[in-house]
Amino acid sequence: MEEIRPYVTAQDKRCVEVPAPPCGLVVFGASGDLTHRKLLVSLCELFRRELLSERFYVLGVGRKELTEKQFREGAREAIEAKLGGSLREELGAFIERLYYLSGDYDDALFYEKISKRVGELGKKHKVAGAVVFYLAVPPFLYGSIVEHLGKSGLSCGEETDSRQRVRLVVEKPFGKDLQSAEELNRVVHKCFDESQVYRIDHYLGKETVQNILMFRFANAIFEPVWNRNYIDSIQITIAETVGVEHRAGYYDKSGALRDMFQNHMLQMLALVAMEPPTSFEADHIRNERVKLLGSIRPFKLQAWSQSVIRAQYGRGEIAGEKVVGYREEPGVSDDSKTETFVAAKLYIDNWRWQGVPFYLRTGKRLARKDTEISITFKKVPHSMFVSAGLGDMPANVLVLQIQPEEGISLRFQAKRPGSKICMSTLNMNFSYKSVFGVDMPEAYERLLLDCMVGDQTLFTRYDGAEISWRLLMPVLEAWEADESALCSYAAGSESFAEADSLIESDGRKWRRLTEP
Ligand code: BG6
Repeated sequence: MEEIRPYVTAQDKRCVEVPAPPCGLVVFGASGDLTHRKLLVSLCELFRRELLSERFYVLGVGRKELTEKQFREGAREAIEAKLGGSLREELGAFIERLYYLSGDYDDALFYEKISKRVGELGKKHKVAGAVVFYLAVPPFLYGSIVEHLGKSGLSCGEETDSRQRVRLVVEKPFGKDLQSAEELNRVVHKCFDESQVYRIDHYLGKETVQNILMFRFANAIFEPVWNRNYIDSIQITIAETVGVEHRAGYYDKSGALRDMFQNHMLQMLALVAMEPPTSFEADHIRNERVKLLGSIRPFKLQAWSQSVIRAQYGRGEIAGEKVVGYREEPGVSDDSKTETFVAAKLYIDNWRWQGVPFYLRTGKRLARKDTEISITFKKVPHSMFVSAGLGDMPANVLVLQIQPEEGISLRFQAKRPGSKICMSTLNMNFSYKSVFGVDMPEAYERLLLDCMVGDQTLFTRYDGAEISWRLLMPVLEAWEADESALCSYAAGSESFAEADSLIESDGRKWRRLTEP
């Protein structure tokens, strides 16, 4: 497949990326993993692409005592490890804009220090009161940091008209259930206006996830068949090969339902199933996403276990290497009941999707890394080739391949050259890499830039966070009461019996995880 012509070229002003205005970024959790692995690297890349203003600074804030020099050295190492040594000049200029302050997040005096430093750096870098507070800390700290930001006046900015130039970014998970999400929203709204708040779900920053909107709403041919009349079922898969890594402290209290399903999976479902928004305006798109999430049929209290299964990985092999089971991972208790895999069957109670099952699954330590959305269409209503033994032809399947092999494919039947009735099932493929010849940008680049520019489209609104927790509450409560079996699967499996039976009981099958 080739690009025929760019519809909007890179020179066209509609396509030119809007650079961030002058601003400061205060990162809480600055000595942590997320800051080094994702945030600093993405910011440096934006700086290299001249999408950050010259008038820009990062104030790292953390509990760990570090000198500014140590913080800068750590940042340099992290950036070089990811981006290579090719950007010496830009890297030097970027590093000069990094600062660090250590203290105790619970201490009001610390926020006075932050406030003073923000004032000084704001003047030095001439950012005119624009500052983004980024919470890259463990979720239990969100509430108290936000309250301190409010009490210290940092959430309002220095001048009377500067509130809109102050923003708050909150990482996922936003709460651990409906009650805690509502409570966190209450605290956030006490100190910030919703228009200042950016709740991150990094899946929404992935190019291929954003493309769902372009694919559905910039092409006329898909919309007429995007409904119960033509679609048999939809599968959404996020399969990972990694295990819990070094995050047992967080993950063991969270599990796959809270870590992946409540946010990434449901947001992808919303994009694939929502109604066409009136425009590309943030709130038009967010309204439709929330409306869709609100139309998902609630799990039935008695029968929910027929629609959701949970499982945990045991020992196994990934790519020829032996790996330990979840309970043997460092930091995980040997009787942990935390699920590392969830599969669910959902229905959407609206005109478009009535009766169409959505099968969702996500798990760690599966056979391959594969995130995809596959749309299976209904089979032909009558086969004219039945006399040649071709009565039951495979359905057309459209696959939106989110990662790691980003692309789109369509499965269809075609005549093979040769005898008269001879057919093959073919795949028509589009691969981002081969058409555009670029690696996909890191989702955090998109999200950091959008937040600095003030575009909330790709962020979760307060009601979106709450509505997805509301849906999952019956499941969380039943799991808490230990009402369902925790299945197990060997690390490196493609699937396992209980996950299969969820879909096979409806006469369907999971798609195989795509080979790289
Ligand atoms: C994070 C989860 O949000 O997403 C991790 O906390 C998961 O557990 C990660 O591994 C997956 O992200 P990606 O971009 O690698 O698919």
